[in-house]
Amino acid sequence: MILIDGKKAAAELRAELKEEVAELKSKHNKVPGLTVILIGDLTPSQIYVRNKEKSANEVGLKSEVIKYPDSVEEKTVLEKIQELNSDETVSGILVQLPLPKHIDKQKVIEAIDPSKDVDGFHPMNVGNLSSGYESSIPCTPLGCYLLIKKIEPNLSGKKAVVVGRSNLNGKPMTQLLLKENCTVTITHSKTKDLKAECLEADIIVAAVGIPELVRGDWIKKDAIVIDVGINKTDNGIVGDVHFDEVSKNAKALTPVPGGVGPMTIACLLKNTIDCFKRSQI
Ligand code: GUN
Repeated sequence: MILIDGKKAAAELRAELKEEVAELKSKHNKVPGLTVILIGDLTPSQIYVRNKEKSANEVGLKSEVIKYPDSVEEKTVLEKIQELNSDETVSGILVQLPLPKHIDKQKVIEAIDPSKDVDGFHPMNVGNLSSGYESSIPCTPLGCYLLIKKIEPNLSGKKAVVVGRSNLNGKPMTQLLLKENCTVTITHSKTKDLKAECLEADIIVAAVGIPELVRGDWIKKDAIVIDVGINKTDNGIVGDVHFDEVSKNAKALTPVPGGVGPMTIACLLKNTIDCFKRSQI
C-alpha cells in the first residue's frame, strides 16, 4: 500500500511556488499578495489562518490578515472587500468560513472580485469550472486532484466515487475528475447502497464529515482512496475513512492528518499566484 504523503507533496509544491514567486518578482518587480479576513475567535479558524499566513510568507508572498470581532457588521466586511477588490497589491482575497450567523455568507462570497477569489467559491468561478473554462479551483479538491494524479497520471475511463456533495469539496471534486474523463458518481446521505457504489470505484474521495464511514470491505482491489475528513472523536482526530481497515485493501491512501490538509494550504498559495499571473496579462 502506498501511504500518500501530503506533507511531502505540499513541501515540494511550496518549493516550486517559491521559485515561481522569485521569478515573478524579478519580472514584474512585485510579488503576489494574499489577504485573509478572519471574523470571530473560533479556534480552528484561527489555526487555519495562522498556517495560511506562515505558508504564504514562506514562499515569498505578501500576506495580510484582517481580523474582526464576532460582532462586526456585515456592511463593514462588504466595504472592506470592495476596498481590497480595487487594491492592486492584493492578488487574492479569502474570507475564512464559517461566518457568524448575522453575516450572509453568499453575499460575502459574491462581493469578492471573481478574479481575486482564491477559494473558487464565487458563482462565476463555480460556473467556469463546471463549463471547463479557466477558473480558480477550490483548494481542497485541487489538492486531492494533485495527489491522485501523482499516483495515477492517466485517469481517463476510471470509475470515481465522490462521497459528499458540498460546494466546498464534493461538487468541485466531481468537476475535476470529469475533466480528466473519469466516470464519476456523486454519493450523499440519501444514496441507497453506499458500500455497493464504493466497491465499483477505482478512486474514492471521501468528503462527508462522518468519522471512519468508509470501511475495508467497501474497497475494490487497487483503488486509490483520498480522505478529506477531519473529525474530532474521543479517540482523537480521524478521517472519513477507516484507516486501519482500508490500508489493507487500497492501492494508495491518504492519512489524516498529513494527507489532504497540507495540500489545501499549498493550493491556496498556488491559486494566489495564478490570480496574480492572470492580472498581469
Ligand atoms: N473554512 C474551512 N475550509 C475553508 C476553505 O477552504 N476556505 C475558506 N474560506 N474557509 C474555510
